[in-house]
Amino acid sequence: MTAKKAGKEEKPWKGRFTVATDQLVEEYTESVSYDKRLYKVDIEGSKAHASMLAKVGVLTDKERSTIIEGLDQILEEIEQGEFNWSSTLEDVHMNIEARLTENIGDAGKKLHTGRSRNDQVATDIRLYLRQGIESLSAEIKVLMMALLDLAEKETDTIMPGFTHLQVAQPVTFGHHMMAWVEMLRRDLDRLSDCRRRMNSMPLGAAALAGTTFPIDRHYTAELLGFDAPAENSLDAVSDRDFAMEFMSTASFIMIHLSRMSEELVIWSSAQFGFIDISDAYCTGSSIMPQKKNPDVAELTRGKSGRVIGNLVALLMIMKGQPLAYNRDNQEDKEPLFDSLDTVMAAVRVFAGMIPQLTVRSEIMYRAAKQGFSTATDLADYLVRKNIPFRDAHEIVGKAVQAAEQAGHDLSDMSLDELRSFSDEIDNDVFDVLTLEGSINTRDHIGGTAPNQVRAAIKRVREAF
Ligand code: ARG
Repeated sequence: MTAKKAGKEEKPWKGRFTVATDQLVEEYTESVSYDKRLYKVDIEGSKAHASMLAKVGVLTDKERSTIIEGLDQILEEIEQGEFNWSSTLEDVHMNIEARLTENIGDAGKKLHTGRSRNDQVATDIRLYLRQGIESLSAEIKVLMMALLDLAEKETDTIMPGFTHLQVAQPVTFGHHMMAWVEMLRRDLDRLSDCRRRMNSMPLGAAALAGTTFPIDRHYTAELLGFDAPAENSLDAVSDRDFAMEFMSTASFIMIHLSRMSEELVIWSSAQFGFIDISDAYCTGSSIMPQKKNPDVAELTRGKSGRVIGNLVALLMIMKGQPLAYNRDNQEDKEPLFDSLDTVMAAVRVFAGMIPQLTVRSEIMYRAAKQGFSTATDLADYLVRKNIPFRDAHEIVGKAVQAAEQAGHDLSDMSLDELRSFSDEIDNDVFDVLTLEGSINTRDHIGGTAPNQVRAAIKRVREAF
């Protein structure tokens, strides 16, 4: 067996080898089946590299323009679906370079001067992910807008607030939606942090130590929209911390969506009945005709496991790798792409589902009236009458016990009945025992009072 294959399928390292790659090894080591999605950024990076090489005199202007035209033509071929991807050529980088040389001859062979696939791939992933982060951030904003609209519509809608999934204190549905908005707001912030840290350019690091050519890395960085060239060549080609950071942010987003999903599942059950999820976002059962299942929410909860798994995979891939590049790093792409795709799809489908929720305000109101959700308000009322909080807590506990035995709410008790627990109680107690009284008095920044929720919505809208 010889190491030489016909024409463009030759390996670039054929000079050193006498035996051809084993067929199984070829299948085992290829990445083109999944890294071909980097084609656009790979071409963009190559064009910038060629321009830089011409600027410093390593390529002639003629060679530069031949290369750039050749790369544009390949871009066209790929987008028309006419490009012939070959797994013998391993990855997206070698596929494109081989085709370029096939099309334009010797100038194509010069493109790889002062560069290695190690700095090339590290650059490509950053360019790709940068774009991904921008698109994802835009999608998250669409979802946040939908939540803000819903919060605005339901600012006065009273529901039970829960701790331990037991009725705790009344809140408004708008306030609850704004809690979701806050989670996503921090996720957006994390994405922009991650984008900022990853926006430094590996190109020029070459294989690991830099290059002997008089390259101008600042120029290439500028052409590609990087903030600066990466400081250290060994680090630039080897670390994938930027991808881990993105994947951990993706995991946070999925965990947030998963928690929202859990609430949607609970709220849409017959036992709660707080909301109705549109048929367009549910599926039925093949056997039980009555069923309408909240599958989108359930799948999102499930997919969070997958995105967290992807993060853990990359953490494990990186652990124990010595400097600089190791082939282990090729394993970064599948989990990274999967996380990006999954979180993008989840955010999109949520943004479609939220505006179509039906909110059953009467049912939520009724649920808030059960479970003595204004008990704390009564305790606070007694504190304002100079009773120490711990004593007030005990007095109200007794009142709750009595109300429970009588099978009604605190607000259904007569004034005389209430006064049997404390003679500090007057007629004005009913202002705090009602659900409306309870939410209206939580009137400070971050509280559930409807005017505070309206102000919170306004602040977020203004910051957009
Ligand atoms: N496909 C490779 C990767 O994704 C590109 C870099 C290969 N470098 C090498 N020295 N074999 O990591």
